[in-house]
Amino acid sequence: MAEVHQTNVRVNQALRSRLPEVDFAKVSFGTVFTDHMFQADFVRGSWTDLQLLPYGPVQFEPALMALHYGQAIFEGMKAFRTVDNEVVLFRPRANFERFNISAERMCMPVTTEEVFMDGLMRLVDMDREWIPSLDNYSLYIRPFMYATDQFLGVRPSDTYRFSIICSPAGAYYSKPLRVKIESHFTRSARGGIGYAKAAANYGLSLLPTKLAQKEGFDQIIWTDAANHEFVEEAGTANFMFVINDALVTPPVKDTILKGITRDSVVTLARSWGMDVQEREVSVSELVEAMHSGRLQEAFAVGTAATVTHISEIGHEGKVYTLPAVEKREVAPKLLKTLNNIRCGKAEDEFGWLV
Ligand code: COI
Repeated sequence: MAEVHQTNVRVNQALRSRLPEVDFAKVSFGTVFTDHMFQADFVRGSWTDLQLLPYGPVQFEPALMALHYGQAIFEGMKAFRTVDNEVVLFRPRANFERFNISAERMCMPVTTEEVFMDGLMRLVDMDREWIPSLDNYSLYIRPFMYATDQFLGVRPSDTYRFSIICSPAGAYYSKPLRVKIESHFTRSARGGIGYAKAAANYGLSLLPTKLAQKEGFDQIIWTDAANHEFVEEAGTANFMFVINDALVTPPVKDTILKGITRDSVVTLARSWGMDVQEREVSVSELVEAMHSGRLQEAFAVGTAATVTHISEIGHEGKVYTLPAVEKREVAPKLLKTLNNIRCGKAEDEFGWLV
């Protein structure tokens, strides 16, 4: 096991690693967890009891406030093994900052550098053998926080637990997606929590997604709550379109998650001199672009999704088939460049790796 620096962190190492039982190539997303987890408790106004401990069950009373009033937030991030066998995290500070933005919106305490960043580094260091070196694989990291008061009155909890768990992962989506433009259900309204990575945003998406799946779609393109007139995001990812050779994506705002992969893709495309337009995309513009063939590509971008092609888009009973994936240029180039940066095959010119 790698050396673990101990300052304020109690370390309880697993007696036996489960790693020899795991075949990374057969692991599906989010099903296998590494030997250890990190946790800290927020009690009487400060973070305490920082510890690295074996991954395992946690025990709470049924009155746990997180279960009743939904104070629960999370992040998704990845660690990679480079071609030089170094371990790198992709833009972890961006996740730290976004986590605290989610915390503020959900009336939860912000985490400190020591809790989030140091906890993360220590855990990844401790379980570094779990980072696959296979192509397109990584260690998916899930920091999360939830309210731990045992109480049934509606108010912010006084106590919270912050944890980080890790899971070796390949592709989240194994094939191009068929997506449906949603014109009935709503993910987020202005003034809501759409920009926060709150558990509630995912819970509310399950029924509409299940209904869309019954119609043969994989995912939903959420639209604005007011009139279902403008495209927003996927819930599990942000959307990008190539229209007339420009990369077009809805601007981040209070109804849309500020995706870190989204920002990386926008930054890369701009650095190549591409016309990148962060602007409102109306459903009618998209439908017109599909009719006229001006929509050259559509893809979803996210930590888990990375860059996933969209093959078909459904709207009001019609299904539009997009140009063949093999003929696309922008998304494959973005995916390749991101992968090359993350595994050390390309220069990290934006300083994204830690
Ligand atoms: C991520 O991309 O990290 C996500 O949070 C999406 C999903 C797995 C919930």
